[in-house]
Amino acid sequence: MNASRKQKLALNGGQPIFDRTSIPQWPKYHSDIIKSVDSVLKSRVWGVGSDHKAQFEEEFARFQDSKYAVAVANGSIALYIALKACDIKLGDEVIVPSYTFQATAISVLLANAIPVFSDIDPSTYNICYESVESLIGDKTKAVIAVHLGGQPANMSKLKEICNRNGLILIEDAAQAHGAEWKGKKVGSIGDAGIFSFQSSKNMTAGEGGTIVTNSDVIYEKAVAIHDCGRKPKSRKYEPEISSLNFRMPAISAGILLPQFKTIKAETEIRSSNGVLLDEILDSTNGIVPLEVDPSVTVHARHLYIMKYDKKQFSGIPRDKLISALVAEGIPASAGYKPLHQQLSTTLEFDSYPWISKEKYFDVKLPESEAAANQEALWFPQNILLCAEELLKMIPEIFEKIKENAASLIN
Ligand SMILES: Cc1ncc(COP(=O)(O)O)c(C=O)c1O
Repeated sequence: MNASRKQKLALNGGQPIFDRTSIPQWPKYHSDIIKSVDSVLKSRVWGVGSDHKAQFEEEFARFQDSKYAVAVANGSIALYIALKACDIKLGDEVIVPSYTFQATAISVLLANAIPVFSDIDPSTYNICYESVESLIGDKTKAVIAVHLGGQPANMSKLKEICNRNGLILIEDAAQAHGAEWKGKKVGSIGDAGIFSFQSSKNMTAGEGGTIVTNSDVIYEKAVAIHDCGRKPKSRKYEPEISSLNFRMPAISAGILLPQFKTIKAETEIRSSNGVLLDEILDSTNGIVPLEVDPSVTVHARHLYIMKYDKKQFSGIPRDKLISALVAEGIPASAGYKPLHQQLSTTLEFDSYPWISKEKYFDVKLPESEAAANQEALWFPQNILLCAEELLKMIPEIFEKIKENAASLIN
């Protein structure tokens, strides 16, 4: 019999199995970052004209195999800029998955366009290309593919569908630094891509974002939109379009620059530990890791996502399972709510007179709803930076919770 059996759950006052302090802290803090930030400070160019920002843009474009990168304040605004730079206008429809962070859809509203919610593929939780195809109509102008949890969406199918229908394809790679589909880096497979450097991300400056593209036209527009409407040769107070300041601060570029030296090796560790977890969880009935599409050549593993089947856990509600995992030392969460349902209640529809709530938000998306409302269980990326011996304790924790199911069911 397993040693964990009949032990009291940490949630009920027992000893936790996992030592939370053994999970590597994120973000990392080390001398290379201090030196790099110091060099920004010493330069006394902390904003406009920063060489550090320009260097970051050049290195990030190279890292993502893109011709260009434009560094901005965060991933949300990067999405807005990408949409505007791709000429999305009032009343255009943009297809987005419902199972994503809210910025994917709200940026579309900010660009005066209409988010049309697509369902997801239940095996990967990425946008379902068949659902996308069924939603294309006269007003459709673009599709946003989200690479959820760092796993690339099916870019071959999405690109083919977009090409055939004359649609723009934008990649929300906020969670997918360094990920690849069939050997191609995400972000530069579609017309434009965006990345986030918010605190939890695999490359982070606390806040920050970037737009990448191979198109000269999209790049020039993105540069102007992020810099108060100024094209590279515009005079300071003579912008060529109306826009605001969305530039990345130089200090953020300074925090990010040394991370080019570590991101590849860290992605490899997360990847091999992700595969290890997939294997060892095979014996845990009721926990099924998401599948990895065989065309994914690099999975950035920003999140480790599993499907929870409460029937195999004597009916323990997902929230209770999560509280028990957290008490045992594993920082698990349930993730997103279905975005079409969440925005139905939080959006002030009066502010978006070009949107019909009934038509676009009161829709049924069974796979997104099942993932968000019942099944999904997330571990953050730094769990995948733990030593193998620690990861091997995770099935034991699930077994301990199963054994104690009665104490978690009211
Ligand atoms: C899928 C997705 N899109 C967009 C964003 C927005 O990025 P940011 O938080 O940098 O604004 C995030 C960030 O969490 C995200 O996960």
